[in-house]
Amino acid sequence: MAQVARELGIDDLAKLASNECPLPPFPEVVEAVATAVSSINRYPDNSAHELVGSLARHLDVAPDQIWPGAGSTQLIAATALAVGGPGTSAVFADPSFVMYPIATRIAGSSEVPVPLDGAHRHDLDAMLAAIDGTTTVVYLCNPNNPTGTIVETGAVDRFLDAVPDDVLVVVDEAYHEYVTDDRHRSAIPHAVARDNVVVMRTFSKVYGLAGLRIGYAVGRAESLAWLRRTQVPFSANALAQVAAVEAMRYPDRLAERVAGNAAGREQIESGLAALGVEYASSQTNFVALFPEDPPGLAAALENRGVIVRALGPVLRVTVGTRAENDRFLAALAEVLG
Ligand SMILES: Cc1ncc(COP(=O)(O)O)c(C=O)c1O
Repeated sequence: MAQVARELGIDDLAKLASNECPLPPFPEVVEAVATAVSSINRYPDNSAHELVGSLARHLDVAPDQIWPGAGSTQLIAATALAVGGPGTSAVFADPSFVMYPIATRIAGSSEVPVPLDGAHRHDLDAMLAAIDGTTTVVYLCNPNNPTGTIVETGAVDRFLDAVPDDVLVVVDEAYHEYVTDDRHRSAIPHAVARDNVVVMRTFSKVYGLAGLRIGYAVGRAESLAWLRRTQVPFSANALAQVAAVEAMRYPDRLAERVAGNAAGREQIESGLAALGVEYASSQTNFVALFPEDPPGLAAALENRGVIVRALGPVLRVTVGTRAENDRFLAALAEVLG
């Protein structure tokens, strides 16, 4: 990013490419991390006792049903390694989170991408049909990155019933906190009831801790014990553990952030509608556009100091501050002429 800014001679970029929270962590989190810095000569608590306890209370599950790691990215990679390997395959939607094919390749498994349906949602029937004797894991990104679409709760239930018991389903809920559509529910009740389901969550988005790398999986204790064999010890670092525990103490302020995000999402979507640009109605902190030339449009916006992400057929813009969203819409209007 600094390089882009230098090249363009622009020093106030609108960084709307990585679905980060545009706001800093809560001040109490910054303070807690600052206090904890003086102890980083020690290794972190490998059991992440306090974090796991807070999460267990927060989610109403048992502590051994939680598996923390260095972001959910790391948990996805560890999971892919635990269940994958040559001769196995992984099924995921396309386009969906880029980490699924990366983790699949790291594990030496084969990738089985399944195109989204015409409404930019997971095509669950096609995903079920893609499962064969080699499939060991299926990724369900709910809501989906980069389209922001949800799989409704009844459809998730039917899908989980139909997937064979020996195939693991990873339900990635990185954007769960942002959802305002009540047809969406967390799959955590399934994860603690079924051996072959795990839910992944992150502190990188609404909690604003992307730079610290902290996420967690929820599932049955035996399933998590099996998956975490492939995780490097001390993955959840000491500062991240402290920050995550502190961040969970302010549910009212979190709710304000969620409301602010929903307002920003609405601002972007109504701006796009006014410009006549095709987009998918989003339940996340980003919006997907479907221009003819996503990389070309991304480059034109970048030249105006607005950094967004081209991902296959999608141009994805993260919900920023009100001013950043306005800047994106103004730059887009200018590019589209
Ligand atoms: C769907 C999805 N899952 C997981 C992650 C990774 O989050 P983390 O920062 O916890 O690795 C992201 C980040 O963009 C994401 O979009």
